[in-house]
Amino acid sequence: MSLLEVSGLSVSYRAGGDDVRAVRGVDLSLEPGETLGVAGESGSGKTTMVLSLLRLLPATATVSGSVRFRDEELSEARWGRIRAIRWAEASVVFQGAMSALNPVRTVGEQIREPILLHEKVSEKQAAARANELLDNVGVSAARASSYPHELSGGQRQRVMIAMALACRPDLIIADEPTTALDVIVQAQILGLLTELVAESKIGMIMISHDLSVLSSVCSRLAVMYAGRIVEIGPSKQLMDTPEHPYTRALSGAFPTIGDPASRMAPTGLAGDPPDLRLALPGCAFEPRCPVARPECATADIELWPAGPGREAACVITRDRRSGATP
Ligand SMILES: Nc1ncnc2c1ncn2[C@@H]1O[C@H](COP(=O)(O)OP(=O)(O)OP(=O)(O)O)[C@@H](O)[C@H]1O
Ligand SMILES: [Mg+2]
Repeated sequence: MSLLEVSGLSVSYRAGGDDVRAVRGVDLSLEPGETLGVAGESGSGKTTMVLSLLRLLPATATVSGSVRFRDEELSEARWGRIRAIRWAEASVVFQGAMSALNPVRTVGEQIREPILLHEKVSEKQAAARANELLDNVGVSAARASSYPHELSGGQRQRVMIAMALACRPDLIIADEPTTALDVIVQAQILGLLTELVAESKIGMIMISHDLSVLSSVCSRLAVMYAGRIVEIGPSKQLMDTPEHPYTRALSGAFPTIGDPASRMAPTGLAGDPPDLRLALPGCAFEPRCPVARPECATADIELWPAGPGREAACVITRDRRSGATP
């Protein structure tokens, strides 16, 4: 049984009298212990997509589609059930630990809280477990009595990871867990997270702007553009032979794009992502695509097979696979 099975997931935000269609029909699945990376430039809907899985979005968001977690339909689950699942079965490492940690409570208290809430243990047992978790993430247990502002950015992110692991979940959602950190600390934290999820066979969905970071951590990658997955497949194949023109742009495979420094960032890509208030018929990437054809503006686009375990939402993939010549 899959750990997670998402189909037809769409999310729109009501904002200033308009609907911002941030996620537009996402299908994906995750096996137990599998790691999936989600890439895409700012505003492509990554955070919205993953937070909608555990209904962590603000009230202005409308979610439709199906989210099956093991054999349970979360879109129909009661709030109490969702609350029970959060932390204990699926937990989140948020974008920016600064705002996610409570500034007026010690980190020890914050790690103990989900343990006390979800497991039948004494204060003393919870404290021992919190110390063990701090040790696992490379923070001295003596730090349990520190407040978040007394820790470095890297230590705070480690504390977030300890909290996410506290109730031994089967799924961790990590939204840019290291973006705010310097490169060396970033590598340490990613290494730590990778090791801990592999050790405990935890499934993970990790978001990053940086494809190269994701491919070093995750076995599969999904690339999002304007609220849709435009390509998904095993990390190595997707990086070595990107299929969708947007993936190629993200991975810097277009020789015309950018300098080496911006290779892994989409900043080398000309133009802007589309206005998500619009309907966006055809391929949303068409206005920026260096290999677009006239039909791309209007064609029905879906994820077509692009090799073993791979799919891409590009008519070039569709035609190559069907043997048609463009
Ligand atoms: N609360 C909100 N109200 C209205 N629109 C929102 C809200 N949150 C996000 N959006 C819009 O939804 C779209 C997707 O945002 P989201 O935060 O999911 O993108 P992202 O891919 O995570 O970007 P980033 O890489 O910058 O974190 C954007 O156009 C954003 O402006
Ligand atoms: Mg985000």
